[in-house]
Amino acid sequence: MNGKRKDPAGTRPRAVLRPWTTDRADVQAVLRAFAAPGMAGQSRSAIASLDDAHAWIAALVPEPSDNLPRSVAFAIDLDGTAVGHVMVSAIERRHLTGWVSYWVASSARGRGLAAAGTAALARYCFAERGLFRLELGHRVNNPASGRVAAAAGFTREGVERQKLRYQDDGGTWQRFDTARWARLATDPSPGIVPLEIRHP
Ligand SMILES: CC(C)(COP(=O)(O)OP(=O)(O)OC[C@H]1O[C@@H](n2cnc3c(N)ncnc32)[C@H](O)[C@@H]1OP(=O)(O)O)[C@@H](O)C(=O)NCCC(=O)NCCS
Repeated sequence: MNGKRKDPAGTRPRAVLRPWTTDRADVQAVLRAFAAPGMAGQSRSAIASLDDAHAWIAALVPEPSDNLPRSVAFAIDLDGTAVGHVMVSAIERRHLTGWVSYWVASSARGRGLAAAGTAALARYCFAERGLFRLELGHRVNNPASGRVAAAAGFTREGVERQKLRYQDDGGTWQRFDTARWARLATDPSPGIVPLEIRHP
């Protein structure tokens, strides 16, 4: 680890990445997080009950028999509580690509957790999963997500017109112009300290 790298969040050692569980505490944390405005687009269906939150987590936990899972997901754990999520989905093994997403509960935002978590996820996917290109997209009216991507070492590649379709907090579907970012395994590491990944 380069000691000169800044740790803008002051997140270490309190915050780590770790696998999601279907324990009650994680389920409650997901339900709480999805109650915040702007979170509707982070799930295919509404997270309005403990059952919804349980199903959301259960879909992330790979089957033990699955040697080549198409996704990798971690909870951002702050002092023992899940406060965020980083994930690579749509892993494509011919081209060694994947699609990154993240969210942080409103109570834990502004501490650098999304950036440090995404940097850790990218490092893990390049080093341990052999991926070469990680992509992400965010609505152009969500510049905060672009700041997270930049801080995590991603490069903005352009705007894709009406690429993504999300439900707003009122449940109405809308299409959005989307800024595309990507980070390659050969790109320089960002100047932040990635979170540690704690495996059980
Ligand atoms: C976007 C989101 C993940 C940011 O999480 P966070 O942990 O607060 O972000 P960080 O603290 O790691 O901030 C990283 C960078 O983004 C900037 N940033 C974060 N939130 C911001 C905001 N609301 N407005 C402007 N900049 C913001 C920070 O200042 C920081 O910039 P810097 O590197 O230049 O200092 C969080 O607000 C969230 O979960 N939003 C709802 C879901 C969402 O939009 N997910 C992304 C979908 S593509």
